[in-house]
Amino acid sequence: MKKRLLELAEKYGTPLFILDHNRIRANYRMFKKNLPRVQCYYAVKANSNQEIIKTLFNEGSSFDVASYNEFMQVHEYIKHFKKNEKHFYIWDKIIFSNTIKDRDTLRRIRRYRPLVTYDNLDEVKKIKEHCNTAGLVLRLKVPDIGSQVEMSSKFGAEPAEAYDLIRRASEMGLSVEGISFHVGSQCTNFDNYTSALEITSEIFHDARKKGHALNIIDIGGGFPVSYDSQVPRFEKLAAVLNAEFKRLFPDDIEILAEPGRFMVANAATLVTEIIGKARREGKIFYHINDGVYHTFSGVVYDHWIPNFKSFRQGAREVCAVVGPTCDSFDKISQSVQLPRNLEIGDYLYTENIGAYSIASSTRFNGFEGAKIKHIY
Ligand SMILES: Cc1ncc(COP(=O)(O)O)c(C=O)c1O
Repeated sequence: MKKRLLELAEKYGTPLFILDHNRIRANYRMFKKNLPRVQCYYAVKANSNQEIIKTLFNEGSSFDVASYNEFMQVHEYIKHFKKNEKHFYIWDKIIFSNTIKDRDTLRRIRRYRPLVTYDNLDEVKKIKEHCNTAGLVLRLKVPDIGSQVEMSSKFGAEPAEAYDLIRRASEMGLSVEGISFHVGSQCTNFDNYTSALEITSEIFHDARKKGHALNIIDIGGGFPVSYDSQVPRFEKLAAVLNAEFKRLFPDDIEILAEPGRFMVANAATLVTEIIGKARREGKIFYHINDGVYHTFSGVVYDHWIPNFKSFRQGAREVCAVVGPTCDSFDKISQSVQLPRNLEIGDYLYTENIGAYSIASSTRFNGFEGAKIKHIY
């Protein structure tokens, strides 16, 4: 594999983001195999590269979109469908999981009868005014303890308000279809999922008893990626979830999930090049041609700790790896064990960098970011 990475770096130049679509397909199939009751909506935000959407579309995936533009990226593959088929596809296989949607977006998607999430009364009023064709899914605030990226401080209705939000939306003539949550991204504490399902089930059964025909449970994302050996296995989580679905919910409901990271994180490797080397206060600084404003943006936004490996061997010491921009904030890692004999022109590589990386890359300082090489 190292040889192949080197060949590609030599051929296409660096920084090079190598994206393996075989891994994406394998991740999708593994997800479906272990969670057979769950309809899988790929969360496009994790990596919105068009080729990924195409691969997952061809696998039969559904999609979670955060914006009108992400919606249009999926629409690209259904634009030739007949009107009825297209409308059915959108209803059945796309969810707008961003709890706050601007008015213009709502007006633009109104004609499709979209499925959208909400978590407050002002949003209900906005949906009523600008997109009353929508099906609504109430997003709950649930525990996200220990997750790499927490969600509950910004999203989700308090469970105590939930019934009221379902009732008020129904009274306004909107159709409430179900309940959703997100336990935080890279959730390795499976108790978050079980607590969230317990909370959801109480609200779900109470609402049904009071005459609201809810039929969707959306368990969000958070499915952990094996970045290291400490991460509990996805199969274990799937077994817990399957048992909880059976225990807590009737068979007639639809269960949705919105995995982002899980589908793409391990499908990409980044090859970078050392462009400068300096000793600063005793520590070697390797300056490379990609940084936190670019493919390593996940260090900032995703709280991700990247890994670095070298192609050349040698005695190791603790080094810093920093990005190419003029900003001193552009430090990717302050302490990484690397050979001390690496030179300008040598390559490094970083695995498992497929999620929340190029998705939030900028062009800061005029650097373009990584080239993408797709492997099919
Ligand atoms: C509403 C929603 N769904 C799904 C996801 C994807 O989460 P993950 O990448 O942890 O699977 C996110 C991530 O931010 C999200 O906000």
